[in-house]
Amino acid sequence: MSQLTQLSDAPSFDFKEYRGLDDKVLNLRIKAVKQNLGDRLVILGHHYQQDGVIAHADLRGDSLQLSQLAGERDCDAIVFCGVHFMAETADIVSNTPEKIESRDGRRVTVMLPDMAAGCSMADMAAINQVQDAWDDIGEVIDTNDITPVTYINSAASLKAFCGRHNGIVCTSSNADRVLRWAFERTSRVLFFPDQHLGRNTALAMGIEDSQMPVWNPYDDDLGGNSVQQMKDSRVILWKGHCSVHQMFKPEHVHDFRDKHPGIKILVHPECPREVNDIADISGSTGKILKTVQEAPAGTKWAIGTELHLVNRLKQEHPEQEIHFLSPVMCMCATMYRIDLAHLCWTLENLAAGTPVNVVRVDEETSRWSDVALQRMLDLG
Ligand code: 13P
Ligand code: SF4
Repeated sequence: MSQLTQLSDAPSFDFKEYRGLDDKVLNLRIKAVKQNLGDRLVILGHHYQQDGVIAHADLRGDSLQLSQLAGERDCDAIVFCGVHFMAETADIVSNTPEKIESRDGRRVTVMLPDMAAGCSMADMAAINQVQDAWDDIGEVIDTNDITPVTYINSAASLKAFCGRHNGIVCTSSNADRVLRWAFERTSRVLFFPDQHLGRNTALAMGIEDSQMPVWNPYDDDLGGNSVQQMKDSRVILWKGHCSVHQMFKPEHVHDFRDKHPGIKILVHPECPREVNDIADISGSTGKILKTVQEAPAGTKWAIGTELHLVNRLKQEHPEQEIHFLSPVMCMCATMYRIDLAHLCWTLENLAAGTPVNVVRVDEETSRWSDVALQRMLDLG
């Protein structure tokens, strides 16, 4: 397999030339690049991507599946249709020193079609805040007895922090397994950045709400907690959330149950506790998909997760009755930044030997992030 080489730093094509192009034209041009590059290129697509983009993905999945796939595929280039932390993860797992050596020094080039496709939740925890929290907590309890756990929706620097401090990464599909792993080693966990995933998972394991103080990184006084709360803690939750999933409310669940007897409520665990507790099923985007795929015809669902995935499920399963759980549109604006124009621009520059929007994590951060990611991937 020959490597796609970078011929120059300047892109061959300016994005301005792609704005306003017709979708039909963009689709044809994307297909042409895919055909030309063959299996040297892999396009990964997260379930929240818009339909037009997901149609071009070679592989689609939830965060866990995509990080596994990125590590397994032998290719020269990955174009990640998702958000920034996902592309970083793909760079880390596909470019470990061992993998690069086994390819005779060849790196996999990972690209994110629009660098503005970030994750507002991931932005709620910065490495200096996490480091400060760790130091402050260490003033009142022994940090050797705390496992730091970062949700995969976080910057690589936070994953590296977990790697260095005997910690681990989790996704929404393995958070319970990861917490069990952590509790086999220490009696406490610091969980960031999503308080809801941390709380929902720990509650299901029987941990009391009173043992889960919330750490506010903007409160200099023990994150807004007393010394006693820290001493009584089992899971210290970071004050972060997903702006999309926090839009789902308990009254939406009650409304659907009143108006559609027999309906099942299916939500993502990034939803607040008040919603998660009263849902019938809670799970990652992968689990949501599988649950609907396996349900008998005629099943009624109200689904609480990102709009594009719910709309796709509606189209793909006309034999079931599928509703969006909220009356207001909850879509991930950053996921939506990846569109056909950005995808086509990225692919054509790649094919021309001038890759754009390359996501590359520095060596040291990558090494320690991979330690924490591998601990998770080893759990299966
Ligand atoms: P999944 O782990 O279900 O892929 O979720 C990722 C995500 O960003 C949800 O908001
Ligand atoms: Fe981040 Fe929420 Fe978007 Fe997922 S849905 S990428 S957590 S902002």
